[in-house]
Amino acid sequence: MPLVPSPAVEPTPLQQLARTALAGVAPYEPGRPVEEVQRELGLERVIKLASNEGPHPPFPAAVEAIRDAATLQRVYPDPGCWALRDALSARLGVPAASVMPGNGVDSIIKLLCLALLEPGDELAMAWPSFISWRQGTGVMGATLRTAALGAGGAYDLDALLERVTPRTKIVVVVSPNNPTGGAVAADALERFLDALPGHVLPVLDEAYFEYLPPGSHDGVALVRAGRRLAVTRTFSKAYGLAGLRVGYMVAPPELLKLLGAVRNAFDVNAVAQAAATASLAQADELLPGRMAEIAAERGMVASGLRALGLEPLPSAANFLMVPVGTPERANALNQALLRRGIIVRPAGPFGAPAALRITIGLAHENAEMLVALAASLGEVGAP
Ligand SMILES: Cc1ncc(COP(=O)(O)O)c(C=O)c1O
Repeated sequence: MPLVPSPAVEPTPLQQLARTALAGVAPYEPGRPVEEVQRELGLERVIKLASNEGPHPPFPAAVEAIRDAATLQRVYPDPGCWALRDALSARLGVPAASVMPGNGVDSIIKLLCLALLEPGDELAMAWPSFISWRQGTGVMGATLRTAALGAGGAYDLDALLERVTPRTKIVVVVSPNNPTGGAVAADALERFLDALPGHVLPVLDEAYFEYLPPGSHDGVALVRAGRRLAVTRTFSKAYGLAGLRVGYMVAPPELLKLLGAVRNAFDVNAVAQAAATASLAQADELLPGRMAEIAAERGMVASGLRALGLEPLPSAANFLMVPVGTPERANALNQALLRRGIIVRPAGPFGAPAALRITIGLAHENAEMLVALAASLGEVGAP
């Protein structure tokens, strides 16, 4: 439901105060907390495979940094995120001036839209894809131009290029794409960037970068090579820090300066800065094993789904999108899974109402999900 009723309905005095752009924007509807779902349905325990969080805890060094930071919270955080920027700069091989941490990539998306988009401007992306880009465009009263995805669920970059007009300010490539999991090929991405007109800012949303197999695209390497490109990544998924809200953008310093004009000074809290910085120190040691485990589990889950007669899309991320026929069936399966203590994500808000998005969890969670799904399919019946 949009925030402001359609013109046929008389707005209340409070609704009349809203900016006109908000008439077309649906507010974020937070799901109920896991504990409440558990209590309401009388479930002994719940497995949440709904938000693409990594199933592993934060790295030990991050947990220690969080503990150490606890007693220091009387003071405001470092607004410049110096330690985190330096650590990212060293790891990524780009100057610290090219790195901007944010309160999750979600916050960075809002800042980009706030800094660049006005009514009449356009943002081009594919759809189904990550909803925050759509939301940010709508909030600014700018126009969203969407292209269809390719058959495997990755961005079709030729189709996206056709959506670029003289009014386009931002073109977004989400790869691996959420909710489908498909990734664009590195060479196709470079050709796309070559073909883009100079007035457009390309943004590569690499929230699931760490899950990509070797030989995939690396947006930061493109920035390092001098490309005019903004890249977003997050600590929410592979690093297991979703609760702290910390992500970052790598981009030309002049773009980051523009964003600085609209950014809250204390955007990234001190505990998040400490945890993210400490995580980077253990990334080489601990990330590869975790990523390999997720890839292996993703293969197991995909086989399990196929054994149930389903056809998940190919995924390079920590989730699988599973078409189930119709929106009604997606809803019924979601409810049936919920009654069995499994929370997955119906992909409707991301533009795929006839599909479920299932996050890859730990081995026993995935196994339990497949058992519950088999029972739910039996209950809901054939499409
Ligand atoms: C493609 C994509 N971009 C950005 C984000 C936002 O990440 P963060 O948790 O850093 O706000 C997500 C989170 O689900 C995502 O899937």
